[in-house]
Amino acid sequence: MAQNKTKHNFRRIDLDKNILSVINNGILILDNKLQIYSFNKWMQLHTKLKENDVIGKKLDELFPLPNKRTLIRKIETALTMQTPTYYTASVSHYLIPIKINQIENSLFEYMQQDVSIIPLANKKQFVAVILTDQTIMANTNALLKKEKEKNRLQYKQLLASSRSAAMGEMISMIAHQWRQPLSLINTLIANIKIKKELQLLDEEIIDNSINKIEDTVKFLSHTIDDFRDYFKPNKVATNVNISNLFGQSLFFLKNELKQLNIEYDVQIEKDIDIYTYKNELLQSIINILKNSIDAFKESNKKNKKISVFVQKEKKYILLEIDDNAGGIAKENINKVFDPYFSTKSKNGTGLGLYMCKTILEEHLHGKISLTSNTNGTKVAIQLPYKV
Ligand SMILES: Nc1ncnc2c1ncn2[C@@H]1O[C@H](COP(=O)(O)OP(=O)(O)OP(=O)(O)O)[C@@H](O)[C@H]1O
Ligand SMILES: [Mg+2]
Repeated sequence: MAQNKTKHNFRRIDLDKNILSVINNGILILDNKLQIYSFNKWMQLHTKLKENDVIGKKLDELFPLPNKRTLIRKIETALTMQTPTYYTASVSHYLIPIKINQIENSLFEYMQQDVSIIPLANKKQFVAVILTDQTIMANTNALLKKEKEKNRLQYKQLLASSRSAAMGEMISMIAHQWRQPLSLINTLIANIKIKKELQLLDEEIIDNSINKIEDTVKFLSHTIDDFRDYFKPNKVATNVNISNLFGQSLFFLKNELKQLNIEYDVQIEKDIDIYTYKNELLQSIINILKNSIDAFKESNKKNKKISVFVQKEKKYILLEIDDNAGGIAKENINKVFDPYFSTKSKNGTGLGLYMCKTILEEHLHGKISLTSNTNGTKVAIQLPYKV
């Protein structure tokens, strides 16, 4: 029986030595002063030191130990509590500096190690320190972190550039909306100057002009508010009378209509009121009428005419704006709602119809379509009675 037990013990030690020599971990036995008592094959292989050269030496004589204090603290804890302690490569990087062959994309020069400290039960002042190579794991983590940071930056850049694109578009749209009223102010001022030269200026003309200029300036400042609000939703809708709206559109366009000798015919079923965003609808209508006026400038039609026809349908109102200015070339028909598509060499931003579509469909919940033939162009708008 006694012999059997000895044999058993012997076998166990044998096995342990065997394991220690082949295991794919660094294992060393230390006391709480960091003196080395055992140094396994793995350690010898990776540090290129023989066991005989290290036994009896202190760990910190042999290697610079960046985490010496942590190591001693962990050993003390393991010994006093008689429980294993650990620290990980992700926090502590490494215990023993072991240079690694640089693998592609590797971020580390030294092997990243997890460290486990196990108190040896029978010999109170000794611990086994076990090193596990965690370089691949640490590397993957670090690369993932880097990638995440890159994505975050890319997202931020994307956000910033889309914001500035929206801003640029808004500025273009405001500029677009301002062109007509500004030219109206210009005309009014020029008119006053001429009348003054010719000594035809009387108070009535001055008053009229000033009133018109004031109204126009009000409209200009509204435009800015509208666009600002448009980018911030929740602007209030109001009751809008369609006849009044077309009356207002005329205010901005009547000089040009007269100059170009364009007949403007508006037929509206009496008293149509809808609940919508007024200035945005007005801007859209002015844009469409302005396109017809522009088209007449380039055609030599005799009987120039713009006809507006508004009628109530069951669920929406239908608004048609027709001109006989010669129409749109077939190959362009599908592009007219694209932003920045324009056939006008000067003065065309190509934002007019794009804006109309965005405003009418996305904000006013309506629909806009355009048809054209060699005679002219028809724009049809459907609007709900209530947004
Ligand atoms: N009534 C129309 N008659 C003929 N062509 C038109 C008419 N309406 C639009 N188009 C064509 O559609 C194009 C796009 O119109 P849109 O209003 O978007 O831009 P634009 O008028 O060229 O520029 P902007 O509106 O800045 O003055 C015009 O360039 C023109 O070729
Ligand atoms: Mg236009």
